Amino acid sequence: METQKENSKKRKQVFPYGNYKSYYGYRIDQGVDEDPRLKVLKKEWFEGKECLDIGCNNGIITIQIARKFCCRSILGIDIDSDRVEDAYWNLRKTVRLKSTGNKPVKASKLQDKEHADDSGSSVTVLSNVEAKEKISKEHSSSEQIDLFSIVSFKRENFVQSRHPPGKNYDTILCLSVTKWIHLNWGDDGLITLFAEIWKLLRPGGIFVVEPQPWKSYESNRNVSETTTANYRNITIRPEQFQEILLDKIGFRTVEDVTSGLANSKTGFNRPILVFRK
Ligand SMILES: C[S@@+](CC[C@H](N)C(=O)[O-])C[C@H]1O[C@@H](n2cnc3c(N)ncnc32)[C@H](O)[C@@H]1O
Repeated sequence: METQKENSKKRKQVFPYGNYKSYYGYRIDQGVDEDPRLKVLKKEWFEGKECLDIGCNNGIITIQIARKFCCRSILGIDIDSDRVEDAYWNLRKTVRLKSTGNKPVKASKLQDKEHADDSGSSVTVLSNVEAKEKISKEHSSSEQIDLFSIVSFKRENFVQSRHPPGKNYDTILCLSVTKWIHLNWGDDGLITLFAEIWKLLRPGGIFVVEPQPWKSYESNRNVSETTTANYRNITIRPEQFQEILLDKIGFRTVEDVTSGLANSKTGFNRPILVFRK
């Protein structure tokens, strides 16, 4: 007979915010090392810039952007502290692989292996400083220290936190997050997201957004009572985001870089729009 514990393990895990564990297992096909979305991002949007990645999940794309495009800094935020923990695991793992000269492993494997290595033990989130000290004790390459001083992660609900004036960014990313904010906080939450991003950007700043299509809302509308209720009341559709961002929020220009993803694996063919403040 199955124990209660085994039964509850089998119960389907629900991720009401799109806060999937092993997200890259869902989206990255076997054999893909680099997230295909990186191909359509331009270095000039990131190089030497202060960047923010809203809804970073396990931080893999945040880390890849930092490495490929040489950001001055990049902060990944996520509503789920477990995902922030995963992101720090991935950061430490990346630094370790870099310092030992190993080729980076596939994104999906990176995280799984880390967790497998430590299965059964409780996981403690190390702060950036602690993580930096831990790794620098093991290895002494200056390159690895750089990544720790460039990339950081934080738990934050972006739509419900106050962003006091003073902290601004050159580039903000919001990849595959709008649906979750829209379903959980409705049209008001979505407008708050866009307005806060605009406020946080410096003049000339870049906003990179990858909205999920309306038809995909349907499959997630019942993840919670809140999303079911909000789904019924949502009036804004993703096709209108561009007009809202230009005409209501105040972005000056938009570039659709989607075509660069034309031959990408399934799961990476959503539109990617780039707005300039
Ligand atoms: C589907 S994942 C996308 C991950 C990553 N941006 C990518 O495209 O590879 C959506 C992420 O957004 C996060 N999220 C949802 N609502 C959020 C909010 N209000 N504030 C911060 N993060 C949020 C979820 O926890 C989840 O990790």
